[in-house]
Amino acid sequence: MILLYLALTALLILFCLAFVLLFLSQILATFTADAPFVPIPKGIEDEIIRNLDLKNGSVVYDLGCGDGRILARIAEKYPEIKAVGVEIAFWPYVLAKWKTRKYKNIKIRRENIFKTDISSATHIFLYLYPQVINRLIANIKSQCRPGTIILSCDFELEGSAPENIIDTSEKDAFTLRGKKLFVYRM
Ligand SMILES: C[S@@+](CC[C@H](N)C(=O)[O-])C[C@H]1O[C@@H](n2cnc3c(N)ncnc32)[C@H](O)[C@@H]1O
Repeated sequence: MILLYLALTALLILFCLAFVLLFLSQILATFTADAPFVPIPKGIEDEIIRNLDLKNGSVVYDLGCGDGRILARIAEKYPEIKAVGVEIAFWPYVLAKWKTRKYKNIKIRRENIFKTDISSATHIFLYLYPQVINRLIANIKSQCRPGTIILSCDFELEGSAPENIIDTSEKDAFTLRGKKLFVYRM
């Protein structure tokens, strides 16, 4: 009887350990992806959406969508357009699924932004590291139609001239993030 009790306790401890390790590894993955999970400041969400210049029939992608906050805000303002979030890290993906659960026009995919199909995009939002954006641009150019709008927060695309640069430094004085928006048309 005592042996059975010990075996069950050992099993329970092993199970808990495995769970904790899995949990920690997924948190670590959030910070070791091509760009870490650093959400866009709330104060510039509407400025981003305004400068995306969405229309009926637009299909907007957030590549590396984090917790899906921009997509949720877009769906709130434009219930008629389609939005897709692509996120590789488990916890931000779960948060994005939860945050966007009530919007039928948002799809969240747990995929790698370098492997995902973005051919239906008319608008792309990026809040990623410069080296990631510049690697990604070849994919965007090869898959997307001419006229696709790309809005990159804080970082410019190498070798492309922005159509518009918006200074958002006044919007949220308490953070160093989200100070400039660069708008490109392909
Ligand atoms: C700086 S956060 C931006 C989050 C969101 N776009 C926002 O503005 O609030 C970058 C996100 O990209 C995700 N990411 C990084 N590399 C990725 C990859 N190769 N494929 C998919 N998502 C990736 C990270 O997990 C992180 O959540």
